[in-house]
Amino acid sequence: MSEANNRQILLVEKPTGRLGPEHFRMVNGSIPEPKEGEALLRLRYLSLDAANRAWMHGATYRAAVEANTVMSGGGIAEVVASKASGLAPGDIVFGDTGWQDYAAVQAKHLTKMPKLEPMTHLLSVYGIAGLTAYFGLLHVGKPKEGETVVVSAAAGSVGSIVGQIAKIKSCRVVGIAGGKDKCHWLTNELGFDAAVDYKDGGTYKALRSAAPDGIDVYFDNVGGDILEACLPQMNNRGRIACCGAISQYDGVPSAHGPRGVPGLIVVKRLIMQGFIVMDFMDQRDAALADLQSWVASGKLKVQEDVIDGLENAPAALIGLLAGENRGKRMIRVQA
Ligand SMILES: NC(=O)c1ccc[n+]([C@@H]2O[C@H](COP(=O)([O-])OP(=O)(O)OC[C@H]3O[C@@H](n4cnc5c(N)ncnc54)[C@H](OP(=O)(O)O)[C@@H]3O)[C@@H](O)[C@H]2O)c1
Repeated sequence: MSEANNRQILLVEKPTGRLGPEHFRMVNGSIPEPKEGEALLRLRYLSLDAANRAWMHGATYRAAVEANTVMSGGGIAEVVASKASGLAPGDIVFGDTGWQDYAAVQAKHLTKMPKLEPMTHLLSVYGIAGLTAYFGLLHVGKPKEGETVVVSAAAGSVGSIVGQIAKIKSCRVVGIAGGKDKCHWLTNELGFDAAVDYKDGGTYKALRSAAPDGIDVYFDNVGGDILEACLPQMNNRGRIACCGAISQYDGVPSAHGPRGVPGLIVVKRLIMQGFIVMDFMDQRDAALADLQSWVASGKLKVQEDVIDGLENAPAALIGLLAGENRGKRMIRVQA
């Protein structure tokens, strides 16, 4: 298996400003031979995540991506050969395959997935996005019936699921998103009670009228100025589930917001808690059972944004950071 027919996208340089197409290059590599304990995978769907950009800044909950290596990224893949017990050709797995057609990955770093249709749901609602929304909202935000939940990047993959789960839990839900179309979609299609267009200016005031009783749970996907606008509007004993800080990922971190954090946290007795979805994986089966029943009953709508062709991954990630996507963005590498 050494012919040069494994397309790979390299990160050729770490961006110091905004991510651009010049930071990537496609090369033709060879298909690796799996070693003992590894499976050879053929990538089917590649997940595009805001975090892909954050990994370029340095080590976080995982190692940093380095220049002149295959760009890291999670994907749904099919096992084509295996030297690992428990994995056989034809099995479907999730793991960090990287941006390439084929990868040899240690079985201990792979999660075997059920064979369900559409397969794309394994990356959206039954993948990291759905589980992040589920655990972050229910285990960290802990909303109670009748409370007001605000979520940012609300039309994105995590945010769109957070808002819908909060509705299922009988909360008043306000989404913050960029642009009138996205806001309209949140209220008219996904059942959010209100939506705030942060690109329209005056986020603080718009939020005040969308959440007149204050905010009990803020699910924060973006950090920065939007977090600063939410903080003073938190109700006493409110909870902030810190999921991500996408406003800080692409380019030089902003010098703005949030200001006044410590005082507000004390006076309002707030809980502000960061989390990583992997921390909750021992409860994955129960979460998936809930998500599956909500999808089956039509209470939870799944929005996916599938782009064809591995070669389009760089532009698709750059576009995600700019807010092009609605719901879970991914690349169909091989159907
Ligand atoms: N803690 C965890 O375990 C975990 C796991 C998965 C994801 N995450 C986090 O979840 C968040 C969502 O990630 P995702 O991969 O699902 O992406 P996504 O929400 O599908 O897409 C990102 C969205 O963020 C919005 N955005 C971009 N720049 C922004 C800015 N400066 N201010 C406000 N909104 C901005 C854009 O929508 P607009 O058009 O609305 O701007 C864009 O569509 C990220 O912060 C990510 O790091 C955390």
